[in-house]
Amino acid sequence: MPYNVPKLTDFSPAALDAAVAALFSALAEESAAAKGEDGAKAFRDRWMARKNGILAQLNKLWLQAAPAKAKREVGRRVNEAKARVETEVRSVQARGSAPSSPEQRLDVTLPGIRRPLGAEHPVLRALDEIVGVFKAMGYSVEEGPEIETDYYNFEALNFPPNHPARDTQDTIFIAGQEAKPLRDRLLLRTHTSPVQIRTMQKYPPPVRVVCPGKVHRHDTPDASHSPLFHQVEGLAVDSGITFCDLKGTLDHAMKALFGSSVKTRFYPSFFPFTEPSADVQVSCFFCGGKGCRTCKQTGWIELLGCGMVDPNVFEFVREHGYDPKKISGFAFGMGADRVAMLRYGINDIQLLFQGDVRFLEQFA
Ligand code: PHE
Repeated sequence: MPYNVPKLTDFSPAALDAAVAALFSALAEESAAAKGEDGAKAFRDRWMARKNGILAQLNKLWLQAAPAKAKREVGRRVNEAKARVETEVRSVQARGSAPSSPEQRLDVTLPGIRRPLGAEHPVLRALDEIVGVFKAMGYSVEEGPEIETDYYNFEALNFPPNHPARDTQDTIFIAGQEAKPLRDRLLLRTHTSPVQIRTMQKYPPPVRVVCPGKVHRHDTPDASHSPLFHQVEGLAVDSGITFCDLKGTLDHAMKALFGSSVKTRFYPSFFPFTEPSADVQVSCFFCGGKGCRTCKQTGWIELLGCGMVDPNVFEFVREHGYDPKKISGFAFGMGADRVAMLRYGINDIQLLFQGDVRFLEQFA
């Protein structure tokens, strides 16, 4: 027999308790019998339908019918019943919508969700590899700001004001700096060499550091030029450092990066902050030196600039312990984008900066 809400005539507490007990036992029974989503819906409607659900009937047949002095007691019980019914309906609904077996919960034949894995950008990878080679030789890593002052980018590196050597740097200047003294005017650093000065201001000799970072030049983009590119600077200062140390260090680094069979060649060059200066070339590891497109038929690939730190540069940091009579050093600057392109066979530098996922995902 399905439960029916009885009309109450006896409103004594004992009679009320008995009526509530009958109600709850019906609730428990019907709740246990309600199966699936349809069962849950029918259960909810029977107990909670606004029009004639059991709760609505309790209001009418119990509460409204109660004499004034029993109203409190009846009200308390009806509220209790309401809370209990709501809880029960919720649990039946949860049960009804849950899949009835684990097999239904997990369909192992569905294609999985592919989580796209990020890939290290080839330039970062090249920077890391270069830095790693020098770390293994005891170098530490320093960084400097991309927005530099004229002083660090030029003056302290022995580019005097108005010196024509500045023209080689295709500098991008920050606007509105004219009111400041020249040395304080801001620009985008054109090389990582300013970090040489910052490092020597920070630490007394001996120092051995590499400084990876972004640099900027006013170049029109093409397959081999980009207004933004990356360098790794190197600086070693100690007593008695010679050009031999420079050659040995860079020869080792090139072999570590491009394979033990590459040869290096030091070609006379000029930089205001090194004397003597050299460009370092490595034998072409694509054609083995015979001549190909990558080495422009020369058999050699130019990779970096270097030299012995010019004593004039030490004069700018003399008060930090750098007396050019007592110490000497070498410095070098390497284009990391170039290294990435050679190592990973990339023929257009623009690819490094376009953010095209089809290109980047090849490095995953
Ligand atoms: N800063 C130079 C450039 O960008 C490279 C360089 C660094 C040369 C250190 C010598 C010593 O061209």
